[in-house]
Amino acid sequence: MTTSYQQRPQTASSKAPSTRSVIGESKMAVNAGDGGGRLVVDGLEKHYELDGAEVPVVKGVTFTIEPGMFYSLLGPSGCGKTTTLRCVAGLENSNGGRISLDGKVLSTGTEHVSPDKRDIGMVFQNYAIWPHMSVFDNAVFPLRVSAGKLPKHEARKRAMEALELVQLDGFAHRPATALSGGQQQRLALARALAHRPRLLLLDEPLSNLDAKLRDTMRNELRRLQQSLGITALYVTHDQSEALSMSDRVAVMNGGRIVQEASPRELYFQPADRFVADFVGRVNMISAVVRDRDENGDALVEAFGTRMITPCPRGVGKGEDVTITFRPEGVRWHEVAPDRPNVLPARVVRVEFLGEIVEYEVEVLSGQTVVGSLVARGAPQNSPSTGSTIHLELPPHACRVLTA
Ligand SMILES: Nc1ncnc2c1ncn2[C@@H]1O[C@H](COP(=O)(O)OP(=O)(O)OP(=O)(O)O)[C@@H](O)[C@H]1O
Ligand SMILES: [Mg+2]
Repeated sequence: MTTSYQQRPQTASSKAPSTRSVIGESKMAVNAGDGGGRLVVDGLEKHYELDGAEVPVVKGVTFTIEPGMFYSLLGPSGCGKTTTLRCVAGLENSNGGRISLDGKVLSTGTEHVSPDKRDIGMVFQNYAIWPHMSVFDNAVFPLRVSAGKLPKHEARKRAMEALELVQLDGFAHRPATALSGGQQQRLALARALAHRPRLLLLDEPLSNLDAKLRDTMRNELRRLQQSLGITALYVTHDQSEALSMSDRVAVMNGGRIVQEASPRELYFQPADRFVADFVGRVNMISAVVRDRDENGDALVEAFGTRMITPCPRGVGKGEDVTITFRPEGVRWHEVAPDRPNVLPARVVRVEFLGEIVEYEVEVLSGQTVVGSLVARGAPQNSPSTGSTIHLELPPHACRVLTA
């Protein structure tokens, strides 16, 4: 078998594009000069006592965030994202493992530096702004009471700079409750940034905002984080948020990190079925490896047809595997092209989604339906329901996962 036409996907880290901004440039960006800290979390363990039993919820979580990096923990509800973040913040005491920021040990599992001495800012999902205070007082209050309490004029200056940074300086004397949802979220951000932390923790900070505002705030947040050079640890269950904003993403499941990678790597090279399924939509089909070559390609049998796909080392002849491919990686033709991986199929559903069309097909072997797949493509060129087409799964779009 010879295949030399594989085009591997790019694996470079993606930077969110800078866009039109409502968050202004500020003196603070200059003042923040020393940039962000380096966070090392090593073997973090946390359990809770439930009905007299110790239940582990974070199980040996290990990761490093380099200075200035935007790092996300992504995973389904209950997988331990918030607990990990709270252990880093010092709001929970871990039961094991080590957390350090710029070499300063914050937690060893038995000893814990108090939250106000950690040089960390935090933004929560529910903003947690103080409703009885003005916008300005919300921003200045932590600076007046925290461990490193600042002189009045310095606290005032920093609070105003932080408000300016998120373009709320004009609202300083308003009651905090007289702000919109997006403005309240920006106030929470200003408050977290006002004392110039070395690390910013964000727990689902955009999930209470409507879809449009969430998109805008994503860009704002990313741009601000980059211009300040601050290190950010972001928690979300929203894969598009994690992919669009992060330098690195760690996918968590059941208290563990199952894969850490750049957004592109995660999307195009998921380590297992869980990641493939959680990060974006994916087709998974069962296959058997029939042959493989030294270029890393395999000949597999799926749907009773021989197909070519890149294949990781160590996967041998006769092995049962899963082939994954994204709906947008599939092409369709009226006449079968003379290329590998072409399957006859019948279109059973076509759904118009605006910028794309999604269609579901039954894969045919003669008249027999042997499976179903989902594909996506441009709306200008979509097949019609009931038609018989030829689906092409280009080898470079396929990926083999073992059990
Ligand atoms: N104080 C607590 N006492 C007991 N169990 C807890 C406590 N806090 C969290 N848990 C449990 O720990 C597990 C992890 O919770 P955590 O809040 O870290 O999840 P999460 O990944 O942030 O989920 P979500 O996306 O829903 O916010 C869950 O099963 C949760 O029920
Ligand atoms: Mg949570």
